[in-house]
Amino acid sequence: MCGIVTAIATNNVVPVLLEGLRKLEYRGYDSAGLAVLSGSLSRLRAAGRVAELAALADARQLSANIGIAHTRWATHGVPSERNAHPHISGGLAVVHNGIIENFEAIKSSLEARGYVFESETDTEAIAHLVHSKLETHPDLFEAVRLATNELVGAYAIGVLAEADPFRAIVARRGSPLLLGIGEQGMYAASDTAALLQVTRKVVYLEDGDLAELRLDGYRVVRPDGEAVEREVHLSSLSADAVELGQFRHYMQKEIFEQPQALGNTLEMIAGGGAISPQHFGARAAEIFDGVRRVLVLACGTSYHAGLVARYWLESVAKIPTTVEIASEYRYRESVPEADTLVVVISQSGETADTLAALKHAKTLGMARTLAICNVPESAIVRESALRFITRAGPEIGVASTKAFTTQLAALALLTLALAKLNGRLPEAEEQRHLTALRHLPVAVQKVLELEPEIEKWAQRFASKEHALFLGRGRHWPIAMEGALKLKEISYIHAEAYAAGELKHGPLALVDKDMPVIAVSPADELLEKLKSNLQEVRARGGELYVFADAGSEIPESEGVHILHMPEHYGMLSPVLHVIPLQLLSYHAALVKGTDVDKPRNLAKSVTVE
Ligand code: AGP
Repeated sequence: MCGIVTAIATNNVVPVLLEGLRKLEYRGYDSAGLAVLSGSLSRLRAAGRVAELAALADARQLSANIGIAHTRWATHGVPSERNAHPHISGGLAVVHNGIIENFEAIKSSLEARGYVFESETDTEAIAHLVHSKLETHPDLFEAVRLATNELVGAYAIGVLAEADPFRAIVARRGSPLLLGIGEQGMYAASDTAALLQVTRKVVYLEDGDLAELRLDGYRVVRPDGEAVEREVHLSSLSADAVELGQFRHYMQKEIFEQPQALGNTLEMIAGGGAISPQHFGARAAEIFDGVRRVLVLACGTSYHAGLVARYWLESVAKIPTTVEIASEYRYRESVPEADTLVVVISQSGETADTLAALKHAKTLGMARTLAICNVPESAIVRESALRFITRAGPEIGVASTKAFTTQLAALALLTLALAKLNGRLPEAEEQRHLTALRHLPVAVQKVLELEPEIEKWAQRFASKEHALFLGRGRHWPIAMEGALKLKEISYIHAEAYAAGELKHGPLALVDKDMPVIAVSPADELLEKLKSNLQEVRARGGELYVFADAGSEIPESEGVHILHMPEHYGMLSPVLHVIPLQLLSYHAALVKGTDVDKPRNLAKSVTVE
């Protein structure tokens, strides 16, 4: 959701800015722009893809040693060239990620002072505000500091000024931003992927930090102007990790990376490793001690991972568990209980609602917090007492796939760790679960081999306008995840129901044009599910059943069966989501949608 790249270097930064934007495309955007200083300020904007911006830069043979660049995901004002960043005030240019909540008030007071607004964006208010500060505080860094102190809301910004051509200023609050220390200059970007082209040495800015980037170095200050030191990290990401390689789309690549991602995430139990609270941090044993309930907070796919975990935590660890959509929890009046472990799940670690829900839980007195996250230095991780970093590697496709299955792996470990602490995991049971977890990458690999058959099913699906997903028990959230995937990337309307709910309403929708996808593991609820499937067939609905070996659901007219490997017990949801990911991927391919960047969506939802 919006991306920023800033660079000052001894060589031409235009290719670096453009390549950085390409690497941030996955975050979701609808327009792009850049501004560079080379004597005077030049700005280019395109109401479309980064490729169009690059073509404009080529045509102008743009070259400069300092610049800012941006991909915009529209919040205030339609996607258009006029609203694309950078926004300019006098000789000053600003790019911005986030939402300024008090921009109307700032705009009114600036208009009263004679500033004329050309766009509908909140960002333009920042540009004029900084410009207005320069009248009384001619130092650009100071002017940006004073301006950002007046902003309410979330921002990561980059600022350039014609009158001050040897430095770029960046600042952040709420939205991500990190610095890159390169051989040929200094850089800043919304995430590491954009900077791997020039450096792996990064500095994560904290909320409220303001930084000045110069050719010979940088400095960071707090909102009151006090200087601070921030640690320099060496990113373990390789540039290859964000390359497409042999795959057609990132989503496809990421689906097929799942065995590896699971193996990496579960590395601590490989070989002879046992289940331990230590997997969640040095203080985990102390923090888990006395936990009587679990509250999971998350959004979207991460929320579905939490829903699966509820079944595990209650059945295996016997811990009462509530799972809430973060955007609901943060605003509702709830009853806090101090002996609760608050588990926040987020691939990006940036999701504004999840971060706010976590902070809200803490203000209610719930200090035992655990983040399950794929990005080590993200805001959500830093806000939590404990952390489990899934090792899925960068997930670029907007549709979350490997992040989901690695979250499930982390949640399975959490379930077993809490069960063990509570004396509910006998040694033999622990060994059985450990064996299943260690074998999980191989089991997932086998399911991936079903792709050719799923591809055939997808051909029939692509012409449908609606689809119904059914599941029961811990596979109901998998049905929900399948429906989310399908609608997200193929734009086919899909709904998921707990199969037992069918006759309480949704059965009315079933006819020959409504495909019904059933997640049918050979578990304790299979016989119940079979009855639900009969209800569908009796109304002429066409069934697509993902059945474990041994499910004994006969294929017949209108009943298509795809046989999965043998039932995988507690971890079965990890296997059953794979064909649903593949089904939505191939349906989207047939429909010709933009698989990795579906319309209207962003990878990191850093605004409310
Ligand atoms: C999943 O395919 C979606 N892109 C979306 O639901 C996502 O899971 C949600 O926005 C939460 O993101 P997070 O895991 O980064 O917090």
